Amino acid sequence: MTILRTEEEREQIRAAGKIVARVLGLVEDLIQDGISTDLLDKKAEEFIVDSGAEPAFKGYRGYPASICASLNEVVVHGVPSSKILLREGDIIGVDVGVKLNGFFADAARTFKVGDVSGEAEKLIQATKHGLEAGVKEAVAGNRISDISSAIQKTARKSGFSEVRAFVGHGIGRNLHESPEVPNWSSGAGGQVLRDGLVLAVEPMFNQGVRDVRVNPDGWTAVTTDGKLSAHFEDTIIVGVSKAEVIT
Ligand code: MF3
Ligand code: CO
Repeated sequence: MTILRTEEEREQIRAAGKIVARVLGLVEDLIQDGISTDLLDKKAEEFIVDSGAEPAFKGYRGYPASICASLNEVVVHGVPSSKILLREGDIIGVDVGVKLNGFFADAARTFKVGDVSGEAEKLIQATKHGLEAGVKEAVAGNRISDISSAIQKTARKSGFSEVRAFVGHGIGRNLHESPEVPNWSSGAGGQVLRDGLVLAVEPMFNQGVRDVRVNPDGWTAVTTDGKLSAHFEDTIIVGVSKAEVIT
């Protein structure tokens, strides 16, 4: 079942979204050569708790941390570790979710560590554009497939591949609600979008093949060819003429 949020509920989700956006800004400011992904996680968690919110990922199906920190060939769900140190030239996807007063918000960005290769830069920009193109379609009367195909087209245009193993999702009183928001489309279809539907749109683009495998830790998803991957995500509220990005 898909839920349309009232104005009061939207206010709660916006408040959660504000915290997520601040956490991403804080992590971005900390990113530098030599810092561990565990330290990024600790700082993020501290900020979330100090804001009166809860980290949404910690304990979710046993996930052990408050953020996902996905380095280079890691697509998503990179588990922070004191042994994983950022190095100049790396790219790192940072994914954050919070729960505030019973409502969730979820977002991700891919950051550069210092100067990165031209190809890495292109991948980051293309994935960011994929998110923007998808969000642009998130208006009442369109369908989920309009979001999906806009994302997929952006990947193809730039010569990258869209990951199909993970999808965007409805969000609200749970981190994951219906509907699913795939990053590819097999044709027009899917649910019609309506004002007040809250979605997490999250393209993941790979430099090489789209295939993904999960490491033995049960979480860390990597590209099967070891090439780079980037991830951007925003929580949005579908609107009549345009979507509202709340993260
Ligand atoms: N943004 C991701 C998602 O929607 C993050 C989930 S990490 C998890 O699935 F640990 F919570 F699973
Ligand atoms: Co998500």
